[in-house]
Amino acid sequence: MTEAAVAVETVLRELEPSVERLLARHLDAARDWLPHQYVPWGAGRDYDGPLGGTAWSPEQSALPRAVQDALVVNLLTEDNLPSYHFEIATRFGRDGAWGAWVHRWTAEEDRHAAVLRAYVHARRAVDPVALEELRMRHVGTGFRSDLPTPLHSLAYVTVQELATRQAHRNVGAACHDAAGQRLMARIAADENLHMLFYRDLFADALGFFPDAALTALADVLHGFAMPGATIPGFRARAVRIAAAGIYNVDVHLAHVVTPLLRGLKVATLPGLGPAGERARDRLVLHLERLGAQAARARELFERMNTDSGTGADADAGTGTGTSRGRGRGRGSETKTDRYADRNTAVAAVRAREAQA
Ligand SMILES: [Fe+2]
Ligand SMILES: [Fe+2]
Repeated sequence: MTEAAVAVETVLRELEPSVERLLARHLDAARDWLPHQYVPWGAGRDYDGPLGGTAWSPEQSALPRAVQDALVVNLLTEDNLPSYHFEIATRFGRDGAWGAWVHRWTAEEDRHAAVLRAYVHARRAVDPVALEELRMRHVGTGFRSDLPTPLHSLAYVTVQELATRQAHRNVGAACHDAAGQRLMARIAADENLHMLFYRDLFADALGFFPDAALTALADVLHGFAMPGATIPGFRARAVRIAAAGIYNVDVHLAHVVTPLLRGLKVATLPGLGPAGERARDRLVLHLERLGAQAARARELFERMNTDSGTGADADAGTGTGTSRGRGRGRGSETKTDRYADRNTAVAAVRAREAQA
């Protein structure tokens, strides 16, 4: 069956029993949790404004700079849930098993932004004024998917949930705060279950529509960008997050793309026609390309962490909008911070992998 031959209604109808089965499995596996129990309220104090408390200032944040960047990106990404709900509900529908899943998923996702914001406010982790300004701009712009088919959308959410799980996990490992680590691990556990739902649904899609589904997966992986990529100042933050080892091409390849292709048994997938075989070839090429990109990025980050005044350094210092501490003397301080950030994050990730 070619991609063009798979009508939207056919995809939704064929996969609905799978959605029903996987939703039941999800509800069985999901553990309810209470966001308010994960926020270190005792660390908080009133802010300036109507309560007459203390305004935020940069030295109040004990978190490494790259962790602050990652928290802002992860939180703003979660903030755009209304757009994601709209995209998924209009694409897959609000009735039957699809609708039940979309609403359940939305209710679970809604905890993430709420609890992350409470955490960063209680910890005074980032500038709350700049964060709110960014939220207004980011959510005010919204997120719009231009993916051409429901199979592309399914492939996208599968990759995105896995990438988000990894991003939250690695922030927890790098934040040096027991409360933060516990919270990020809790959110990551939610994202993991979301990923398992979508991955196994996508595995069924590969069974029903092998050529069209594998083509969709190849398209999505080739052009993959996180939904938070439209956050103002994203690029500069992404560079620091990558240099700190929290999320970069290495992480994407080792913890997202490779395990996903293995989990979907892409290498041995039966029933492929010429379109499916072409898609599989593109995926192999993509893996090779990511490997080369990761090697180049490692060299760049080494230079960033040992040299001052590189192009990447200049890039990383522009347009973040959340730091009031930028100014004289920040160059050497930032370099040292980044070096420490990267080494601790990488060490933490490796230690966790060794335990796994
Ligand atoms: Fe989430
Ligand atoms: Fe999720």
